Amino acid sequence: MTTKVPWSDGRLCYGGDWNPEQWPPEVWREDVALMRAAGVNLVTVGVFAWSRLEPEPGRHTFDWLDRVLDLLHANGIRAALATPTASPPPWFSLRHPDALPVTADGGRLTHGSRDTYCAAAPAYRDAARSIAEVLAARYAHHPALALWHVHNEYGTTCHCPHTEAAFRRWLTTRYGDLDALNDAWVTSFWSQHYSDWAQVGTPRATQYLANPGQLLDFRRFWSDTLLSAYTEQRDLLRAANPAVQVTTNYVLGDWVPVDHARWAREVDLVAIDHYPSAIGAGAQEQTAFAADLARGWARHAAGRPAPWLLAESAPNQIHTAGRMHTKEPGRMTRHSLAHVARGSAGVMFFQWRAPAGGAERFHSAVVSHAGADTRVFREAADLGAALGRLAGTAPGRVEAGVAIAYDAASGWALRHPGMPRAGLDHPGEAAAAHRALWHAGVTADVVPPGAPLDGCRLLVLPALYLASDATVDWVRRHVHAGGHLLVTWLSGVADEHARVRLGGYPGAYRDLLGVRVEEFHPLADDEHVPLTGGGTGRIWSETVHPAGAETISAYAGGVLDGRPAITRHRIGDAYAWYVSTRPDDGTYRRLLTEAAGLAGVTPTCPGAPEGVEAVRRHDGLLYLLNHTDRPQRVPVTGLDLLTGATADGSLTVPPGGVAVVREEPS
Ligand code: GAL
Repeated sequence: MTTKVPWSDGRLCYGGDWNPEQWPPEVWREDVALMRAAGVNLVTVGVFAWSRLEPEPGRHTFDWLDRVLDLLHANGIRAALATPTASPPPWFSLRHPDALPVTADGGRLTHGSRDTYCAAAPAYRDAARSIAEVLAARYAHHPALALWHVHNEYGTTCHCPHTEAAFRRWLTTRYGDLDALNDAWVTSFWSQHYSDWAQVGTPRATQYLANPGQLLDFRRFWSDTLLSAYTEQRDLLRAANPAVQVTTNYVLGDWVPVDHARWAREVDLVAIDHYPSAIGAGAQEQTAFAADLARGWARHAAGRPAPWLLAESAPNQIHTAGRMHTKEPGRMTRHSLAHVARGSAGVMFFQWRAPAGGAERFHSAVVSHAGADTRVFREAADLGAALGRLAGTAPGRVEAGVAIAYDAASGWALRHPGMPRAGLDHPGEAAAAHRALWHAGVTADVVPPGAPLDGCRLLVLPALYLASDATVDWVRRHVHAGGHLLVTWLSGVADEHARVRLGGYPGAYRDLLGVRVEEFHPLADDEHVPLTGGGTGRIWSETVHPAGAETISAYAGGVLDGRPAITRHRIGDAYAWYVSTRPDDGTYRRLLTEAAGLAGVTPTCPGAPEGVEAVRRHDGLLYLLNHTDRPQRVPVTGLDLLTGATADGSLTVPPGGVAVVREEPS
């Protein structure tokens, strides 16, 4: 990973997905004029254009893309040129029915949407390499080219015979022999012992609960398979011109069979798509979390703070809970700048112009069905101007004293059937810890296990279920170096194969935490247990025996009445906290504020009113995002780069507005 932004002149990237293949050339010219008016400098082109680039096998039609790239270049706009491999043309599927994906219950999908391919099918991989190769040969030195955007949102899955054969090969490499596989998957249970590799398959639909080891390895295998589909394209694009960076856009969510932390080492720039599922206040919490996650991946891969890119976001409406929700004025700008504050090298939208038809005809766009004489276009142009004023600022380096661990495989494993409770959610628990800190004004990094922890004084493990020996070692090294630790329920309960670590929960961390957990008492969705000292616990509770730790809060009532709920274990000058339930938001916020405070971590901008998000960066900038509908005064001294206003002791941030202050000592 090289972690460069696509260019080195200090400008932030600004633009989005542009689909000229859907429009006649007059519209291209209008679009480019509008892009210039909006300050756009980068557009993603060709993501779903395979059938327009290769209408028949081996016959390529590049004239339109030549003209598009030349037009962009003539207008000073750069291209993130996509390889169109996320949507093979109809001829491909007809010719290679064996490359259509098979679902877990054995049904073969048909053409008609996008992503109808199996990434393990040789015909698909050949065709994908071949279209990437011809694009590389033709455009690798085009002056408009700034970045290769491989594929789109790797995340599909398959259970066809090609996949099954590839799974067996992957398992052979991982385990060497069947004894090791039988041991890792605990196949002594339910007579699942394998005596021949030919018996091992993908976890298809089965009678009752599937094997957790098999489920977990299938996800890991598939992540590696998709990764190899990416890296083979990357390598040939790189070979055509090593000066041009290559990346792909991550889609977030624990349904995605991709270990993005592992992938981060293979992309030149971590790029995420972000569409909050929440509306209202939840959307800004999700935005901050996603941005910190992306920054954590980028830093993990680079071994030092590094920029990343918001590759897609919605300029206006999002579809959630069954309908479209319009963003009120200011929200799009504020959320875009929230990503920039937290390290994005720019802001990219999906999409530039709304299509007249097709499945996503009502998805929001900068140029909507109503055209460009709209408040959304005007806001986008204002944002372009604002980003222009931030040229020369250095994305990627954010001051944070807390790190929250996030691990794709733990998220997958908690979803397995047969867990003590349905709905267990590692990403949700990581987000809950992040949200509590966000409301307390404390900036956190979100990092994969094994990431560098320099600068981190408090490490949080939120339902980090899987603990390999390497992960345990990483946690121990942090604690032995004097770092504070806060561990929540279900962390460290299983090893990397999802086998339970015996001797009492949380097996991997019992000694660090000074507790031993004997029994789980999962709670119903609507159940709350009171805690001494105020607040309640949700989702989970358990029988905790202190073994060196002091009790900070106990269960008050029910079967666990009087037993420890939250404990604290002194290790040298630091504390290792154990939280055996999910405290309500207010209680969690107070708890994490205290744990952070004892670790020497204070709010980013003490004195910033509730509802004002503050992010301080190593480049001397303080981003202030006012999520309220009232003007807010913030204690700060310096120059607001967005308005040119100087603040001498305080600055008023308008309702829903943003200030980016170059701070001076007051
Ligand atoms: C993204 C995807 C885009 C578009 C968008 C709609 O996940 O990459 O192609 O579908 O969602 O929100």
